[in-house]
Amino acid sequence: QFRRGLPEVPIVRGDGNHLPLATASLDFLTYAQSWHWTDPDRSIPEALRVLRPGGALALWWNAAALDVPWIDAQTSRIERHFGLGRVVGGNGDGTHEALAASAGRLDFDRRHIRWTRRVPVGTHLANISSHSLFLVHGEERTAAFVDAERRHLLAVFPDGMVEETYDVGLLLAIRP
Ligand SMILES: C[S@@+](CC[C@H](N)C(=O)[O-])C[C@H]1O[C@@H](n2cnc3c(N)ncnc32)[C@H](O)[C@@H]1O
Repeated sequence: QFRRGLPEVPIVRGDGNHLPLATASLDFLTYAQSWHWTDPDRSIPEALRVLRPGGALALWWNAAALDVPWIDAQTSRIERHFGLGRVVGGNGDGTHEALAASAGRLDFDRRHIRWTRRVPVGTHLANISSHSLFLVHGEERTAAFVDAERRHLLAVFPDGMVEETYDVGLLLAIRP
């Protein structure tokens, strides 16, 4: 898919804990919504190894904008469906900040950037049901949630277009 969309951009398969990239070869290394899958004890030294001095490591995540009423209500429905306490933090803080802090060896600047998009209800539901929380609970429980959730969403967005709002938590560190 990447090659089809951006044929002129080179692509390699990699792992943040063990990057297939030469030492001091990069000006910019970024993880979009994926740093939390790495082991910072390994991924931070790897980032420091592959970046040139003055190069930047950028980490970011889309967090649910919990001050938007329908998003707060949906988050509560997800938590009730799976019998959990609050599973997502708002405003891009919390877990991700803690993850970055655990890196210890880098000094991160932080920014929060809010953005929105309008997508068909089916696209929205396909996206949320790809989250690991849904995957680990299996297809049947996901399908039950999605059926009920479609009805909730169409009550708020009768034209079938969901306005999603996200708060990007952006962390940026410069390699000394
Ligand atoms: C939520 S997806 C984000 C995908 C894409 N960056 C985006 O923002 O749409 C999380 C990604 O983390 C990747 N991932 C998992 N373990 C990883 C690791 N150890 N190093 C780097 N990426 C990893 C997965 O392959 C997956 O594509």
